[in-house]
Amino acid sequence: MAFAADRPDLTLGVIGTGAMGRGIVQVAAAGGINVLITDARPGAAEEARDFVGKMLGRAAEKGSMSREEADAATQRIRIVGTLGELKPCHMVIEAIVENLDAKRQLFAELEGIVGPDCILATNTSSLSVTTIAAKLKNPQRFAGFHFFNPVPLMKLVEVIDGLRTDDWVSQALMTIGRRMTREPVRLTDAPGFLVNQVGRGFTLEAAHLVHEGIASFADVDRVMREVGGFRMGPFELMELTGLDVTQPASELIYNQFFQEPRYRPNLIMRERYEAGVLGRKTKQGFYNYDAEMKAIVPPETPAPASMPASVWVSRANEPGHRALTNLLQKLNTTLETGAGPSAKALILVTPVGEDTTTAATAQGLDPKRTVAVDTLFPMVKRRTIMATPITDDAYRSAAHALLASDGVPVTVCRDSPGFIAQRIVAMIVNIGCSIAQSRTAEPADIDKAVTLGLNYPNGPFKFGDVIGVQRVYQVLSAMYGIYGDPRYRPNIWLTRRAKLGVSLLTPES
Ligand code: NAI
Repeated sequence: MAFAADRPDLTLGVIGTGAMGRGIVQVAAAGGINVLITDARPGAAEEARDFVGKMLGRAAEKGSMSREEADAATQRIRIVGTLGELKPCHMVIEAIVENLDAKRQLFAELEGIVGPDCILATNTSSLSVTTIAAKLKNPQRFAGFHFFNPVPLMKLVEVIDGLRTDDWVSQALMTIGRRMTREPVRLTDAPGFLVNQVGRGFTLEAAHLVHEGIASFADVDRVMREVGGFRMGPFELMELTGLDVTQPASELIYNQFFQEPRYRPNLIMRERYEAGVLGRKTKQGFYNYDAEMKAIVPPETPAPASMPASVWVSRANEPGHRALTNLLQKLNTTLETGAGPSAKALILVTPVGEDTTTAATAQGLDPKRTVAVDTLFPMVKRRTIMATPITDDAYRSAAHALLASDGVPVTVCRDSPGFIAQRIVAMIVNIGCSIAQSRTAEPADIDKAVTLGLNYPNGPFKFGDVIGVQRVYQVLSAMYGIYGDPRYRPNIWLTRRAKLGVSLLTPES
């Protein structure tokens, strides 16, 4: 089928003009596409057209488009009162309520209205594209076209092939997406598509480790911002999105994957969802808020004063030993250089994926004096340490004091395979690998989608290259071994590339 996605008179129908629909209308009209809009709620389409007109006017004031362009774009938007008036459309996208029956009913009706070559698309965020299309007479012309909120600011659009989608349809959507000045990424249908699947690694692993008592949510946020380099911590993100969105999406993805443990939801999110403690929109979530809606962040434990008499650093992880001794040489401490620690020395280990208990016992070290330091991430803005359940408080405090002695804050978490950042980032990488292995999307596209759609500092594959593929594999293998939970089993894509010593971006020949 030859579909002229470039035709100047391309006409798009947008059904549902709420938060997403109006954003789609704006980028389409600005991209030179004629848009026919409609909404079930009386007056909603008019509100959307006025809103978009205002937004385009504002873009002209800011100089991102000329006044003439803004006016021309506004002129391209036309309200229609009935679905029947969408007959001339070359493509129709819906952004109505997230309900399978409502969407199926709408498309069944549309099939009887539009021409046989008209593309039908859904902006669903959590329903299966294949399932929505299943009852259509012609599911071949149906695909997912998944935008992100707020549409004008979020460049990514996922182009999703359902099981029966024809290639020309997705190719046309790639072109139309570019005409809308978006960055389209093509993938095959999967629960959570691409971006929302990877996002589970960030939020759910964070929830699991808080539920396990390893750290508070505020500590996890601090570590993921200042150690992991994320713009927002996972709990801050959930506060912004709202658990009314995140929790059902998490449960849906988990169940659509037949209870795959990698996507297992967590009780601390579920109970807040049930209680209506949803985040910023209910003025209470993981955080409480002041009158100006500033999050009230629980303060950190101040660094203790008493420094260790001497410190010995384990060589079991050579790069970790090197990074930590480099740092300690700049701090005011007595660094022991012997093969083993002296009788009273503070013992520091630098595990990758192991908890302090496993590292201390495997290396035959005194667990009462052993403290672990996360050296896998830069120790520049914040450092993370943890101890065994029986480490003497004096030793844990001395390690805290020493590592905070140059003014860099230290997070002390409870014993954890993979501290905080190691395990969350490893989960993100592992999910990225499972998306590549299942051929949902190409590795480079996965990174592109994740950086654009989630604003992470790196996509899963770049993280693998920055941290080291074998290191990520080591984190997951250790977690899997210690917990015995298949949630942490390394994906085969990751395992193979770790064994071969090649980049995660390496495709199959
Ligand atoms: P919304 O509630 O802001 O807007 C939905 C609009 O559709 C409303 O104006 C409503 O009157 C209209 N509507 C409902 N049923 C209709 C029907 N049968 N026919 C015509 N109009 C109908 O919802 P929002 O947030 O814009 O979401 C719309 C769709 O986009 C959903 O499928 C959602 O999952 C998806 N989505 C939402 C994102 C978000 O962050 N809000 C992100 C990506 C996708």
